[in-house]
Order: sequence, then structure tokens, then C-alpha cells
Amino acid sequence: MNSINSQAPTRCIARGLSLLLVASSILISGVAGLGAANDATESRTVADSLAKMLQSARAVISKHQEDINDPKRGDKGLTAAVVLAEADANYKAATGIDPASYDPATRQGRMLKAQRDAIVEVINDNQAIINREGLGFKGFIPATFARLVNEAFARKVEGGATIKVTAPPELVRNRKARPDEWEVDVIKTRFLKPDWKAGTPYAETVEVKGKPAFRMMVPEYYAASCLSCHGTPKGTLDVTGYPREGAAEHDLGGVISVILPNE
Ligand code: HEC
Repeated sequence: MNSINSQAPTRCIARGLSLLLVASSILISGVAGLGAANDATESRTVADSLAKMLQSARAVISKHQEDINDPKRGDKGLTAAVVLAEADANYKAATGIDPASYDPATRQGRMLKAQRDAIVEVINDNQAIINREGLGFKGFIPATFARLVNEAFARKVEGGATIKVTAPPELVRNRKARPDEWEVDVIKTRFLKPDWKAGTPYAETVEVKGKPAFRMMVPEYYAASCLSCHGTPKGTLDVTGYPREGAAEHDLGGVISVILPNE
């Protein structure tokens, strides 16, 4: 009896301790789970804003395309400051946020700054071609501009993130735009499926070069304005010298693909 009684408190403490251990391990895994969820949310926010900023800047080059290709005008006044201001305004119209206002201490602030700096760099580097008098079509089209911005961005963030515009493999013009295995899989098993809701992005955390990374793909579709180059008759050369793809309006034309390695 005595021995039982004397042991009772010890057992109680032991049971209490093990309960506490279970409770705290649930708590810890709960907190870890929450942390992972928050990381994915933050990554999604950053990826969304990078894709939106790329679209916002590309739209500026699209809007000024006729002007850029006007052989009668030299200086177009399409400076880096002008392009950036218009891109920022497009971004603000789409999101309600001024992209220059992001806190530089956050990943979103750092990434958007690098991307906006990349836009400035590309427009500065191409002033001579934009302003060349006597030359009509200059090849400074939205897709090329976007690729140059993404390349400049990659140099600035040194592996901190990647943005690329890719496309279904059979549509790819520039070899640098070729989709990787994961991108091909998302295009084929999701975006090209008839029941995929047009425009819906796809995101997932997967391994990239052996490390976990947040990946997001944003599908984009041909508009009527794209078809002078990407439309019909299939195989005939467009103004840029590439064979037309034979695409139709609303077909999947490309994908903005963002990779954000976990920090
Ligand atoms: C003036 C002709 C022309 C027009 C108009 C045009 N494109 Fe392109 N597109 C090109 C060329 C040339 C490239 C290759 C650019 C490069 O070297 O990176 C390209 C590249 C692309 C790419 C990147 C993948 C790849 O194939 O290299 C996508 C996606 C794309 N275009 C979609 C579109 C969409 C969508 C539109 C309409 C909103 C459009 N294009 C309008 C000529 C055009």
C-alpha cells in the first residue's frame, strides 16, 4: 500500500510529463506547419508581384510599338524613366499598390527593386535602337524586351529568384525560352487540359537543383494582335523572320514561370 502510495505521485508526474511532451510536440509541429504555410504565402505574394510587374512593363513596350517602329522619328522620348513610370502606373492600376512602396527590408521589396532596376537597364541599353531614324521594324518587341528584363533581373538577384517566359515546347521560338521538365508537365497536365480555368496560375513547392523552391506558372493566351506573327498561314515567315505557329486567338501562347528558392 505504502509503496503504491509513495509511487503514485511519481507515476502522476511521469504521466503528466509525457502528456506535456506530447502536447509540446504537437505545438512545435503545429508552429512548424504554420511557418511553412506562411513561407508559401509570402512566396506566392512575391511571385505574383514579379509576374504582374513583368506584364505591366511589357504592356508599355506593346503600347509604344508603333511609335518605336516609326522610321520618320528619331528621339522617341521613351526613356527609362518614362517606361518605368508607365509600368509602375500599370502595376498600380492592376493591384492598387505602388511597386516602389514595398519595404526594401522584405524579399518582395528587394525583388521588385531588382526587377524595376532591370527594366531601367534594358531601356537604357536599347535607346540607340529605339531612336534609330530611317529604320521601321526594330525587333524591340514585348517578348524580346521581357526576356532581356528577365536576364538582367537574374544577374541582379544572383540565384535569389528566376523569372522566365516559356511556352508549350512546339511553340518555342527562342531556345532560351524552352520549358524545363516541370514546366512541360504543368503545361501538358494542367494548362492544356480543357477543364483548366483559363488564366488560373499553378504553384507548387518542389526541389530545384536539390533544394526546395516555390514555383509558379501563369498561363497567357494569344490575342488577335499576336496573330500577325504567331498566327496563320502556319510555316510562313512573319516580320521577325520566324515561321508562324498557326495559332488562334485564345490558344495558350506562353507562360510566365517564377522560381523562388526557399530562404
Ligand atoms: C512582331 C511579331 C510578334 C508579335 C506581334 C508577337 N510576338 Fe511573340 N514572339 C515573337 C518573337 C520574334 C519571339 C522571340 C523573342 C525572343 O527572341 O526572345 C516571340 C516570343 C514569344 C514568347 C516567348 C517564348 C518563345 O517562343 O521564345 C511568347 C510566350 C510569345 N511570343 C507570345 C506572344 C503573345 C501572347 C503575343 C501577343 C500578345 C505575341 N507573342 C506577339 C514575335 C511576335
